[in-house]
Amino acid sequence: MKDFVLAPSILSADFAKLGQECDDVLASGCEFIHFDVMDNHYVPNLTIGPLVCDALRKHGITAPIDVHLMVSPVDRIVGDFAEAGATYITFHPEASEHVDRTLQLIKSAGCKSGLVFNPATPLDYLKYEMENVDMILLMSVNPGFGGQSFIPSALQKLKEARKMIDESGLDIRLEIDGGVKVDNIAEIAAAGADTFVSGSGIFGGRNESDPNKYDSRVKEM
Ligand code: DX5
Ligand code: ZN
Repeated sequence: MKDFVLAPSILSADFAKLGQECDDVLASGCEFIHFDVMDNHYVPNLTIGPLVCDALRKHGITAPIDVHLMVSPVDRIVGDFAEAGATYITFHPEASEHVDRTLQLIKSAGCKSGLVFNPATPLDYLKYEMENVDMILLMSVNPGFGGQSFIPSALQKLKEARKMIDESGLDIRLEIDGGVKVDNIAEIAAAGADTFVSGSGIFGGRNESDPNKYDSRVKEM
């Protein structure tokens, strides 16, 4: 059995009490914190940066922080996120002028690295970079916003990425991001994902008997 990981996207959390929101989802069984960084340039939305990552570490979050960069340029923000306590740093290859250089930069900063593939982006970048990634993140929505619907072609892409990972024999996580909910997570897992980002699916689903916790939804997923 695969080592499945739930990575709640804090994009859908209550930012006014972010530390507590992270504590709650981790206490409810989630293992990573998915940290969506948007720059109003590469994607049409603006979110959070290294200061917030650092604040979560200072708050006491010890779980892996999975930083998903939707920014361009990429390189100049990598060091700040590494210092702020990022565990994974993933980026969109279209947003970097030198993909291999960015991957090396992330590794040399002491973080795990990964490439993110938009719905229409083929997996070709992996042909020469497989050995330099710890995570492959497939977008099942167009990046920029939470609460969108899962794009079904991501299932076929997951199967292709799973095959590539298995054939490589490398230890690489296969993460899916966008529109992951209780109703489709089994199908997504069957297609090969082992790491599941969910924003509205988790933070939108509070346990009604205890509105501060996410237990029931998280356990169903
Ligand atoms: C979209 C982000 C996602 C998003 C997922 O650009 O990368 O992480 O927050 O949100 P849901 O699960 O609501 O689709
Ligand atoms: Zn994301």
